[in-house]
Amino acid sequence: MDLQLQGRKALVTGASMGIGKAIALALAREGCDVAICAREPARLEETAAQIRAETGRTVSTHRADLTRAGDAEAFVRDAHAALGRIDIMVNNAGSAPGGVIEHLSEEDWAQALQLKFMGYVRCLRHALPIMVAQGGGRVLNLIGNDGVKESYWEIAPGAANAAGQNMTKALAGQYGRHGISFVAVNPGPVRTERWAGLVRAMARDMKLSVEDADRLAPSSIPLGRIAECDEVANLCAYLASPLAHFVNGTMIEIDGGQQKALMDRLRDR
Ligand SMILES: NC(=O)c1ccc[n+]([C@@H]2O[C@H](COP(=O)([O-])OP(=O)(O)OC[C@H]3O[C@@H](n4cnc5c(N)ncnc54)[C@H](OP(=O)(O)O)[C@@H]3O)[C@@H](O)[C@H]2O)c1
Repeated sequence: MDLQLQGRKALVTGASMGIGKAIALALAREGCDVAICAREPARLEETAAQIRAETGRTVSTHRADLTRAGDAEAFVRDAHAALGRIDIMVNNAGSAPGGVIEHLSEEDWAQALQLKFMGYVRCLRHALPIMVAQGGGRVLNLIGNDGVKESYWEIAPGAANAAGQNMTKALAGQYGRHGISFVAVNPGPVRTERWAGLVRAMARDMKLSVEDADRLAPSSIPLGRIAECDEVANLCAYLASPLAHFVNGTMIEIDGGQQKALMDRLRDR
């Protein structure tokens, strides 16, 4: 299938590693020029060099901490200047502290919304006027299934995710007349550095060895395993393409049918 992405211009936040890196690579493989951002410059440049070497596409790099409004504004402005257009905006850089309500401080709750929700808002505030002036665009918000499959031990990420999912649908209602469509992608567990940290936290909270936690965690997923970054990236490449432009104001889960209640029972056993 030709995804018709050749020559399109895409911004991907948090793309120096993990899911964001896989998405930037998948888009570049389909012929997109990409602008990527992250905080740590060495890893960002290394990733950009890998994508250029494999795909031959333009990869523009931008050092940005999206918890800072000025960095988000500069990223969108400079990326637009480097690529000339913004056809696709992928908001991906995000994380929120896990844990139960008794252990979450005021700062944890503020932090949960600071990057995972406000980072997306900040980039969109600057990218949407550019897309309006161009006459269209596509927004993918990488969010997470905690927003729709709630769990008390991931209550802060769940709240931040639900806020992002609500925003995705709300903006679809506002910007459709400008030819801009929106979709939220909700992964369950994906094999990244973040997953390794989550397994360590689970082992600590559930008083298990890290090996046992790693083995037990996928038991909440009917397919018996967690996702690989490429699986999420391939879905995103399709969703970013003109073929999926009409998939608008909605959400797609890629979580193997995870049943969070099983994880809750595991924790409480
Ligand atoms: N992995 C999962 O199991 C999973 C499940 C559901 C949803 N998600 C969502 O999918 C997205 C990607 O997750 P991931 O696991 O791939 O993350 P990751 O492996 O931790 O990678 C995060 C990326 O974002 C960058 N980043 C972190 N903080 C940033 C900041 N303040 N400003 C700009 N860039 C920043 C990182 O680079 P620097 O550190 O250099 O800034 C890195 O490139 C996130 O929104 C996450 O919530 C992940």
